[in-house]
Amino acid sequence: MNDYRFIPVMKLNEAQAKQELASLSDEIAQHDELYHGQDNPAISDGEYDELRERNKNIEARFPHLSHHNGPETKVGFAPSISSGFAKVSHARPMLSLDNIFNSEGVFEFITKVKRFLNLSNDDDLTLMAEPKIDGLSASLRYESGILIQGLTRGDGKVGENITENLKTIDDIPKSLRGNDWPEVLEIRGEVYMAKTDFFALNQQQEDAGKSPFANPRNAAAGSLRQLNSDITAARNLHFFAYAWGEISEQLGDSQWDCLQKMHDWGFVINDLAEKCNDGEAAIALYDRIGKLRANLQYDIDGVVYKVNRLDFQDRLGMVARAPRWAIAHKFPAEKARTTLRSVDYQVGRTGVITPVARLNPVTVGGVVVSNATLHNADEIARLGIKIGDEVIIQRAGDVIPQVVEVAQTTDNSQPIIFPENCPSCHSHLEREDDEVAWRCSGGLICPAQRVERLRHFVSRNAFDIDGLGNKQIEFFFKEGLIESPADIFTLQEQDSRKEIKLQDYDGWGELSVANLWSAIDQKRNISMDRFLFGLGIHHIGQQNARLLCLNYLRMADFTAAIEAAQDQASEAYSELLNIDGIGPKVADSLISFFAEPHNIQVLKQLLSQVTVEEFETPDTGNSPVAGKIIVFTGSLEKMTRQEAKAAAEKLGARVSGSVSQKTDLLVAGPGAGSKLKKAATLGIKTLSEQDWLDLINQ
Ligand code: IVH
Repeated sequence: MNDYRFIPVMKLNEAQAKQELASLSDEIAQHDELYHGQDNPAISDGEYDELRERNKNIEARFPHLSHHNGPETKVGFAPSISSGFAKVSHARPMLSLDNIFNSEGVFEFITKVKRFLNLSNDDDLTLMAEPKIDGLSASLRYESGILIQGLTRGDGKVGENITENLKTIDDIPKSLRGNDWPEVLEIRGEVYMAKTDFFALNQQQEDAGKSPFANPRNAAAGSLRQLNSDITAARNLHFFAYAWGEISEQLGDSQWDCLQKMHDWGFVINDLAEKCNDGEAAIALYDRIGKLRANLQYDIDGVVYKVNRLDFQDRLGMVARAPRWAIAHKFPAEKARTTLRSVDYQVGRTGVITPVARLNPVTVGGVVVSNATLHNADEIARLGIKIGDEVIIQRAGDVIPQVVEVAQTTDNSQPIIFPENCPSCHSHLEREDDEVAWRCSGGLICPAQRVERLRHFVSRNAFDIDGLGNKQIEFFFKEGLIESPADIFTLQEQDSRKEIKLQDYDGWGELSVANLWSAIDQKRNISMDRFLFGLGIHHIGQQNARLLCLNYLRMADFTAAIEAAQDQASEAYSELLNIDGIGPKVADSLISFFAEPHNIQVLKQLLSQVTVEEFETPDTGNSPVAGKIIVFTGSLEKMTRQEAKAAAEKLGARVSGSVSQKTDLLVAGPGAGSKLKKAATLGIKTLSEQDWLDLINQ
């Protein structure tokens, strides 16, 4: 958990930012798992949003540290193999949205969009605004007007086939009205449960001795994940359409027109949607919807603004996990009062100790909250909080809870004594002068840290081994069967040599053991990006792992390059730094990881068990520049540099900051200087901006 959370982003120094980004990454991944993987959030959506927001702000201030920690690149969670639904790739990725929390954010969004499009501040830019529904997104595929497939979002790339369940929803047409729909049409929107149905369902659950759902969103998720669609049908879910995926024909010229079309074809469109001509109008609508919020039949957690013109949307494209042309303006925190019962201390993967408040359960904005993070020792001191105190907790947006203040202390309240030793290995805790977080000094001897690293290794975005979750990792670790990742792949062999076999243990049986061996065997071939991410190298989150794969393609080439890069004068070092998105911090982190003999040993053992597949460059159709290294120089006139880079990357090219022998193409605008000369000396093909646009057909 987070160490510097209470230092304003503007005041963070680089070391603090680096550390906080790492801990934010862990924390966000943990909450993603609870929310998407288990439908069981531990914090409110508001608190979660704040984590992400802080992550984003720190990345914005320290761009060279960014990309490393995944959160900005992830959308929800990859479907788990055990769910019982078939996995299907989305024809177009299902995106997420960036968030803003105040009116300033609206104006900043408009300014950024205009800058990207090269519009002046006085030019018109119409937005379409509509409520952000707090449900689950789904993608519905129609061919010749007939609903043929319905998918969950999953991780945004691969979803689960829940067609039969989606067909039970009355708001979802099984065949489209009219006849002006495209042959292939994917409609996307939000599945939700109405508040009244949610309360009735929870009553039923309680009557039947089952645990109630925490909020309507979780209830809708639980209802959609039923293998028996009769159960889904009984849950009376609803659907609002608001976006589209693959389409064989353009639907219209604007977001607004498309919504009207969807309505004509039989979809339910949110009736609070409106066009807004400027920031003031958008904010006025946000305020109006905010006032209606409590009385709506469904939960909303903000208002989404979308650039109305689709040609603009196309040009804006997307960055990491979200489109540049849309933003979610979240509602502010909801608060509640409860009692602090006790404080527990958790040890993270890098040894950071996080105090966790155990609270009397209380409902905040629809979520039952019984835990909240206290972040660190300084935060405990800042709050002046004691065990037994009445505290105010809040969920921001429809968010997660955090302790914001002490409402009332009591005569019996007891001081919180921050431990001096690690709760797991009893090593002493230490912190550096410029750090807020206390860390366990036990390193690899600390079981909690080792377990956390192993958990990371098998986590969904890494090796994702079915049947090998947190509980099992802990079990094998305690049994002394898994100490380092490679041991996972010798488990079966180890077990065959033991007298008491795994299948004889409580909670295991012949079938579950056989399934586990086969799930482990399935991962003996692993994609390079998952492999790199799974190593848990500081700063190598999913996005940086992919970036490295895209540039080095093969594991052997990658390790050789990083080893060569230990020499900062080497070409390997400058090549590494030339990768757009990899800064010196990331490079140094990689180099020091590969310079550590222990890590090399772990890696060797692992590579004797698993085969890392060659990286497949993204499918970019007939892209003329896929896999090519492109450098832009001079000033561009038809598009901004940012736009040019995004377009090149979309076509599978790699954009580099400097010209070298590996450069395939230099795009030079007016004013190009040394790079143009160097390219000429090296005989590298050079294009004007217009040639470039012709080449990529724009
Ligand atoms: S548009 C390409 N519009 O919010 C943009 N999303 O936090 C796709 N959501 O993944 C999203 N109401 O599940 C859009 N009116 C709305 C929405 C909405 C709810 C969800 C959606 C999205 C998530 C992002």
